[in-house]
Parts: sequence; structure tokens; C-alpha cells
Amino acid sequence: MAKLWQTVAGGAGEASPLDPDIESFLSSLSIDKRLLDEDLECSCVHAQMLGEQGIIRAEDARKLVSELIRLRSELKAGLIQVDPKSEDVHSFIEEELVRRLGEVGKEIHAGRSRNDQVAVAFRLHAKRAFFAAQAGILDCLEALLDLAEPNTRMLMPGYTHLQRAQPVTFAHELLAWCAALERDYGRFIDGELRANECPLGSGALAGSGLPIDREATAIELGFDRPTRNTMDAVADRDFCVEYASAAAMLLVHLSRACEDIALWTSSEYGFIKLDDRASTGSSIMPQKRNPDPAELLRGKSARVIGDLSSLLVLQKGLPYAYNRDLQEDKSIFFDIEDTLSASLKAFVALVRAIRPQPGRMQSALQGSFIEATDLAEYLVSRGVPFRSAYQAAKSIISLCAQRGCAIADLDAELIQGSHSALLGLKFDMAGLAAYLKPEACVARRTQTGGPAPQKTQEEIARLRDFVSQEKNKGVQ
Ligand code: ARG
Repeated sequence: MAKLWQTVAGGAGEASPLDPDIESFLSSLSIDKRLLDEDLECSCVHAQMLGEQGIIRAEDARKLVSELIRLRSELKAGLIQVDPKSEDVHSFIEEELVRRLGEVGKEIHAGRSRNDQVAVAFRLHAKRAFFAAQAGILDCLEALLDLAEPNTRMLMPGYTHLQRAQPVTFAHELLAWCAALERDYGRFIDGELRANECPLGSGALAGSGLPIDREATAIELGFDRPTRNTMDAVADRDFCVEYASAAAMLLVHLSRACEDIALWTSSEYGFIKLDDRASTGSSIMPQKRNPDPAELLRGKSARVIGDLSSLLVLQKGLPYAYNRDLQEDKSIFFDIEDTLSASLKAFVALVRAIRPQPGRMQSALQGSFIEATDLAEYLVSRGVPFRSAYQAAKSIISLCAQRGCAIADLDAELIQGSHSALLGLKFDMAGLAAYLKPEACVARRTQTGGPAPQKTQEEIARLRDFVSQEKNKGVQ
């Protein structure tokens, strides 16, 4: 296939064609044809600008634009296919224009290079990917809020070191996941803001000596402004790394939520069941109901973390400006995009399949002195310094462990005698028992971010407002 470029002959006479293995090795069409729409869009805007600036005749610009529009609809309708012999999607579009329009087609590449062409089409694509990720996060938040809302009083143990630590509610943990997702959302907004500069007109690396109008093409394509430096514009793939890094962190968050989901479905926990729509069976063990979607989601984070590191390594030490290494960026980026979109959808479906089992959560609150911190806090509220209160609570628990009873089963004298700091204090055992009930422990935690039902309801309402405001902005 003829190329857009020709090498200066290395020896005497005409340069010989590429070795076929080199030619297929260099081709990126099978990957970058995904940028077809974006490149057509950018090419239209470029052609129009060439006409407006008098670089080509207005009439030729019109022909180029209408042919590009025709090409787009023919491709969409499946009337023509991308020519697999083209080197990349950018070459395909120019070759097609030349095939259709002859000499006029040859005018399109004035004032641009494939280096800025790929950068601009890719950025346009990336901007949409940033928005798609935001929309996916909003769907996850919505699913989590739907699950949290009716469960703000559903008590369960909260864990540290995988040991039962303090009572919380099911909603409170779901809101912990939401807090991470809200930060993820911000990262995608933030990354998109920086990606929002237009590289078109940066040419190969040094712009163009023709009177191109970079401001006009940038605005026409919906960017905030042109990129600040033509060499940076063709060398920069920060937007890929920022997208990858936001995606990796988001998937790490989903992986942590999924780890808890997987644990909770086990018979050891039994805090939730997954309905049939999200449970898988075993090919040999008939009794099994496995949380495979949660596990695979956990696994997907590994893949995207790898992609992030590939993108960083790809750019490390690259000399300025464009180098062909950068062609590798797209397959990595698209892999992240596809993985993220599928993962976000699966997470929504997984969350919607969760059936909480409050009985199992309730029984996990028994027998492990999960109210011990509250016992110490009770003593603090009675004027005992915290460190002494902590020691006294420890002695009280040892006493209970020896006797095989609960704290509320002890009598006031035993409590009083458990530590010198408690001497002289009177204990109302019924009052203490009420104070130590898990629902009371949770209800007292009314500070910002705490698990008290009233606080989690407020947080749910705030997040619901956030989701609907963002959706109204058009992120869906
Ligand atoms: N397919 C190439 C890429 O994706 C296009 C740029 C080629 N530029 C060049 N100077 N060889 O990066």
C-alpha cells in the first residue's frame, strides 16, 4: 500500500518499499480505528479552518468537509469499511479523501501532521472517556444509596485487622464505599479539566508556517484553548496517565468493596446473600453459590494497575517530541476504558443483587465484647481518665471471660472492684446495660461522618443531591 510518506532513497534510485513484516508491525489501524469518529470530526474542523484562513480555497474546504461528513455516514451505515491496508486511521481518512476528491483531497494535510492529528483525536476520545467514567460512578453511587437507605439501623460489626472492632451499621459501611467513589468522581473531573487543551495545529512538533488559527479549531472542537507548546502537545500523554491512574484507584476501591462482599457471602460471615442474578455455581460441587463477579472485579483492578504502569514506563525517558513508542498508548488506554466500563456496570448489578441478612449480622455482634470501647467511654463520662477507664474495661472484660458472662450480667460491686479508679463510683447496672447495647453505641455516634442512623440518613440525602445535581449537568 502506498504510504502518506516516502523515505528519501537510502541508496541510488527510488527507495524500496517496507519489508512486509515491518509494515504489519508498524500498522496501528486495527487499534486506532476506534478513533475514526474523532479523527473525522477533527479533520472537518481543520479543513474548515484552512478555508477560512485562505490557506485553501473556500470551495475546496466545503468539498472536503462534505466528503468527510459523507464518509462518516457511509462508515456508520456499514456501506464502506476501514481499509485494513492503511497504516493507521489517519492515513485511511486522507487516502480516502484523495481517492474520492483527487487533488482537493490532497489539500487536507496542510498545516497539520499525524503527530498532532493523533494527539487531538485521542484527547477528544479521552475527554469522553473521562465523562463516561463519571457517569458510571454516579450509577454505582445510586445503587449503593438505594441499598443503604433502608438499612441505616441494620447493625453489624465493623472490623479492624479482620477482627470485630465496634458496632456500625450496614449503611455506614456502604457509605464508606461511597466516600471513596466520590473522591474518584472528583479525580475524573479534574483529569478532564487538564486534558481540555487542543493539540491540533502543533504539527509534527513545531507548529506550521502557514497562517493557521489554533484558537478557532480548539473552540470549534469544544476544548478550552489550544495547548501551550507545540512540542509538548505532540509528546504529552499525561491525560492517558491521569485517566489510568483515576481508573486504577477507582478499581482498587471497587476491589476492596468486592473483597468485603465476597467475605460477607461466605458461610463464616453470612452477612449477605447474592441473588441468583449475581451468583455462580460450581461445575462439580452442586451446593456452591460463588461470588464470582465480586472476585473478577477484584481481579480487574490488577489489570488496570498494570496498564497504568505500562503507560508510565512507555513515556519514561522518551526524548522530545513525538516517538513511535507512543503508538502503544492507545491499546492500553482502550483496555482501561473497556475494563472500567464493564466493571462499573457489573458493580452496579452486583450491588443490586445484595440481600442483607440482619440476623447473621446481629449474632456476630454477640460474644466478642464489641462494646468494650463504649464501656471505657461510659467510665470517661463518669469522670474516669480514659487510660484508667481503658484498663478498668479490660479488667471487666477479663472477669466476664473467666465467668463466661456478658458485661451486663456482672453486678455493680464487681465492676467497682475491677480497678482502683472506679472506687467510690455507683453503677446503675440497668442503665449500663442499656448504654452498652449495640444500637445505643451506634446511636451515640452522631458526629460528622459517624454511624448514627440520623447522620447516615443525612449523608445519604447529601449524596442523593450530589448525584442528581451531577446528572442534571448532563453526566449520565
Ligand atoms: N499511528 C501513529 C500513532 O498512533 C501516528 C503517528 C505517526 N507519526 C509518525 N511520525 N510516524 O502514534
